[in-house]
Amino acid sequence: MRPTSALVAAGVLVSGTSAENYLGFNSGATLADRSAKFKADWLAEFKTAQNLENAPGKFNAVRLYTNIQAYSEDTPIEAFEAAIETNTKILLGIWTSGTNSIEKELSALKKAIDKYGSKFTDLVIGMSIGSEDLYRDSETGVKNEAGIGAGPDTLIKFINDYKKAVAGTALKGVPIGHVDTWDAWTNGTNKAVIDAVDWIGVDEYPYYENGKGNNIKNSGTLFDRAFNAVKGVAGDKPIWVTETGWPSSGPNWDQAVSSVENAKYYWDEVGCRKLFNKVPTFWYNLRDSNPDNKMKFAITNNLSTKPLFDLTCPTKFDTPTSTSTSAAPSSTGVSAPSSSATSASGSTNTTGGSGTSAGADNSAAESGDGTEEADAIPTGSGASIGRSLFTVVSLALVAGVFTLF
Ligand SMILES: *[C@@H]1O[C@H](CO)[C@@H](O)[C@H](O)[C@H]1NC(C)=O
Ligand SMILES: *[C@@H]1O[C@H](CO)[C@@H](O)[C@H](O)[C@H]1NC(C)=O
Ligand SMILES: *[C@@H]1O[C@H](CO)[C@@H](O)[C@H](O)[C@H]1NC(C)=O
Repeated sequence: MRPTSALVAAGVLVSGTSAENYLGFNSGATLADRSAKFKADWLAEFKTAQNLENAPGKFNAVRLYTNIQAYSEDTPIEAFEAAIETNTKILLGIWTSGTNSIEKELSALKKAIDKYGSKFTDLVIGMSIGSEDLYRDSETGVKNEAGIGAGPDTLIKFINDYKKAVAGTALKGVPIGHVDTWDAWTNGTNKAVIDAVDWIGVDEYPYYENGKGNNIKNSGTLFDRAFNAVKGVAGDKPIWVTETGWPSSGPNWDQAVSSVENAKYYWDEVGCRKLFNKVPTFWYNLRDSNPDNKMKFAITNNLSTKPLFDLTCPTKFDTPTSTSTSAAPSSTGVSAPSSSATSASGSTNTTGGSGTSAGADNSAAESGDGTEEADAIPTGSGASIGRSLFTVVSLALVAGVFTLF
């Protein structure tokens, strides 16, 4: 991000990175069989990402969830070496739920800085302190048994711990963010997190917006509505879309149908129309790695550079331009949106509903990654969620969500 004058005035000078709309995918620390990913696995991912047929840009960035190699104490994740070899930009992540210390994360990061120097640090485009912790800690997250989260105070403490740790290093100018669901950001209680970060990472899954007319034809509109709601509370802070996608297979979710055709439609209407080369974007996903989620989000099989559908962007789109933030498209009969771009309260029923749905996805799709990282954290380090507990939690989550219908 090139700092805007407002950011500079506020003293939030984010150096090093120029305005760039990164294109990348998310990448957890383990494979679908829960075994650790190693350097060769990330090399394969990054090479495929950069060579996807008909891609609307170069997917040469990756979002990681942890600095720690899976099942190690504090060994730097081997993704770093693969990124260096393939010149892949890195959005770092630190896992912050279920722990009262990020020392091991910081230790792994410092080891990587010492070991790889600027070959590594020059590739780092951002750091996310946490992933969906606020959602898991929210009313809907708790109701859905989404797993252990963390509140705003905890996140801010970790942000400060991180800042201290990198103060004397080449990473000190790297912009700091936090990733959460859109309705976590619009929840006024979390405002202090917005104030504490340089950029806002938002995960958005219209697919899981049950009760909102979440059929594929309405996905662009649902996406825009949530995005605008976050924009309305973000102030000057840039928004990065850190997760979004539509499953190509798996069970349906209310009106949302998983299919290759719909995954392509979503790629076009959300990716091409709204995000690619316009907003820093980390698509979900290149490779599926959460065995607990029956919805499969990968855009390709087995890391083939020939995706499941043609990635070519169309020149015309179906999604109506959102001129008003409060009008629901009448043609779809979707329920009225809760969040206007200007309303920061976000405390209405529908907001809660989308928290359920978006969050449900995130939990289902993403806690896996987090849990995988949590697995990598030695049990001594705190209350990391066990793998089997996660499975139970996932199932409970799905059951919980369905009882809301
Ligand atoms: C809003 O955020 C706070 C703090 O993270 C959380 O405790 C609360 O449950 C959230 N509200 C809703 C409606 O989810
Ligand atoms: C996936 O790719 C790997 C590496 O190229 C190959 O060994 C494996 O057989 C492939 N699996 C399938 C199901 O195509
Ligand atoms: C909020 O949602 C609950 C449960 O879905 C419903 O019973 C209630 O009537 C709703 N309240 C409003 C104000 O829409």
